[in-house]
Amino acid sequence: MGSTKKVVLAYSGGVDTSVCIPYLKKEYGVDEVITFAADLGQGDELEPIRCKAIDAGASKSLVGNLIKPFIEDFAFPAIRANALYEGRYPLSTALARPLIANHLVKVAKELEADAVAHGCTGKGNDQVRFDVAIAALAPELKVLTPAREWGMSREETIAYGERFGIPAPVSKKSPYSIDLNLLGRSIEAGLLEDPMISPPEEIFDMTSSIDNAPDEPQDIEISFEGGNPVAIDGAHLDPVTLISKANLLAGQHGFGRIDIIENRVVGIKSREIYESPGLLLLIKAHQELESLTLSADVLRVKHQLEREWSDLVYQGLWFSPLKDALDGFFDRTQSQVNGRVRIRLYKGNAIILGRGSTTNSLYLPNMATYGSDDQFDHKSAEGFIYIWGLPSRIWAAAKRIKKSNDKN
Ligand code: ARG
Repeated sequence: MGSTKKVVLAYSGGVDTSVCIPYLKKEYGVDEVITFAADLGQGDELEPIRCKAIDAGASKSLVGNLIKPFIEDFAFPAIRANALYEGRYPLSTALARPLIANHLVKVAKELEADAVAHGCTGKGNDQVRFDVAIAALAPELKVLTPAREWGMSREETIAYGERFGIPAPVSKKSPYSIDLNLLGRSIEAGLLEDPMISPPEEIFDMTSSIDNAPDEPQDIEISFEGGNPVAIDGAHLDPVTLISKANLLAGQHGFGRIDIIENRVVGIKSREIYESPGLLLLIKAHQELESLTLSADVLRVKHQLEREWSDLVYQGLWFSPLKDALDGFFDRTQSQVNGRVRIRLYKGNAIILGRGSTTNSLYLPNMATYGSDDQFDHKSAEGFIYIWGLPSRIWAAAKRIKKSNDKN
């Protein structure tokens, strides 16, 4: 691989991606490593991360603020899709990868690099997401994946880094592997690898424990326009502020923790802890509003397609024909999803209190009511049921005939 001159490396500031810098130069013969770190609202200070890359030997260290597109172009479509992988994980990490890949490719093209690189290991999902996205966006770019190939243990990686002035992780090193952005945190490894061990309180950062959550419930109202959340308690907020506020509200009340055994793309099960208070709250509210504003058949088909969409995004197929087609279907449905949902936050729960839509409600009071203004035609039910139940009656009759024939 000596022919690779210039590489743009996706950079997080962690040990693995830092070690990638000297490793690419020494072992892959790369002349120049440029790092690209994405600001996704993870709250890290980016200036120290920028400097870290230079200290580790990067020729240029770039930081891109991607928070706005992350929320508008990735989180909001996920809310419209009620995206929950395996019914539970709201894809907080998965959604970030195609966005980072896209910017990696952009930077590589601008700087006329001949390859991009990432520090993902060979058994995670992120490698799949990066590699597939990059291949779709820029098939001509090489993708270098040192951490997938070097075969070093964590200790060896740290030792390798120290030879090139990369400091070992400070203080008592956290045994956990954490990924975070404005949509949530994922926590893996350490004692969490035993699926029977309950997660210690110290691993959480965005959500309160039930014990520490306020004893008083808090009722809030979330408004949606075209399937997108636009306001909390009547106050219109831009997408980034809205997610941040939802994180705060739900997190404070201890809502949004997930502890699951998850099926990874590479075929293994892993134990994952997440906290994603805002996104989970918004998906819950969005589902509720859809139940009021979408017809039964659209809802049924959409539910099936939501599962498909979530699988695709989890499995790294953000840029794919099926995902594109599903977005078309979802977008068409979302023009109906206007209204508001009232929710009580209380001790780890988000309890739906009510939902309403002045423009798109399909709930007809004079059909639903049991009162005197009921306009539903009860007599028509008889004929409907006669035809509806016809296949059942025919089938049952045929069985009876067969049974009596068998006896004779
Ligand atoms: N299992 C989650 C996912 O695949 C979280 C991955 C976390 N990534 C990481 N590099 N720590 O989306």
